[in-house]
Amino acid sequence: MKKYVADWIVTENKRINHDHFLLKVALNESLPEMMPGQFVQIKIADSPNTFLRRPISIHYADPLNNEIGLLIQLVGAGTRKLAELRKNSRLNLVFPLGNGFSLPDKSPSIKRFLLIGGGAGVAPLYFLGSALLRLGHTPVFLIGAKTAEDLLLIEEYEQLGAVHLTTEDGKVGEKGFVTNHSLLKTNSFDGIYTCGPLPMMQAVAAYAKSFNYPCEVSLENRMACGIGACLCCVENTVSGNRCICTEGPVMNIEQLTWQI
Ligand SMILES: Cc1cc2nc3c(=O)[nH]c(=O)nc-3n(C[C@H](O)[C@H](O)[C@H](O)COP(=O)(O)OP(=O)(O)OC[C@H]3O[C@@H](n4cnc5c(N)ncnc54)[C@H](O)[C@@H]3O)c2cc1C
Ligand code: FES
Repeated sequence: MKKYVADWIVTENKRINHDHFLLKVALNESLPEMMPGQFVQIKIADSPNTFLRRPISIHYADPLNNEIGLLIQLVGAGTRKLAELRKNSRLNLVFPLGNGFSLPDKSPSIKRFLLIGGGAGVAPLYFLGSALLRLGHTPVFLIGAKTAEDLLLIEEYEQLGAVHLTTEDGKVGEKGFVTNHSLLKTNSFDGIYTCGPLPMMQAVAAYAKSFNYPCEVSLENRMACGIGACLCCVENTVSGNRCICTEGPVMNIEQLTWQI
């Protein structure tokens, strides 16, 4: 898939909670095709100590308004700069990067997929849920967070399908981790997609494997170039070392060498 480099214009930058924000950016021409699970590399302008671009998943793509959304957690210097951007600022992106989630065919037999997200890992699952719905299938979301305040944009996910929640303190949804949720004991699915902290994805992969569900995970290995040149994002797979920026970030769990 062809990659582009262009300046985008910030249309909105909205704080969601103490450490997450939704950055909306628009292009002054038609969007190229973008797949759920793909990401952009963002140049942090006027910031000598953030030389490397930052990889962020596409949260949604809106071809009508030539706009994409980026749901971002405040982590360090780069994301702090992004959080300060005002409407009409310019932002240089390389896009769309990596391989997205595999999508089922449009078919009259409706399939039910479980989309499991933790923390900012929910970001690409909104785009994925919209695509599954458009193909006539049913996305079911299982979203976990530390506390109720850490649950992001839940009403938006509810527009796409059923949403089940866990929090570690049990104040919203079931208490504990996503992999303890009762949904996993009482339901069956045609496949599982997940994005979030590594231990969560590994637990989801182990669950999927034990039930023989097809499962794809979106990896967040440290990245620098984002285009397969620096090898800093390499993951050991059953077919040798693979660059996650070009051959991921989405991988089928059968490709991974995780001890699950
Ligand atoms: C494919 C992909 C998609 C991602 N999508 C999202 C998303 O949708 N929302 C979101 O909030 N975060 C996402 N991340 C994580 C995000 O890239 C990091 O949180 C961000 O780069 C941190 O930058 P910083 O300057 O604020 O932090 P710093 O800690 O100062 O960053 C220092 C360096 O480490 C790299 N880095 C730090 N954490 C990560 C990380 N987890 N993954 C990769 N590189 C990292 C930075 O790019 C930078 O080069 C994604 C990561 C990858 C690889
Ligand atoms: S980030 Fe440079 S090869 Fe993947």
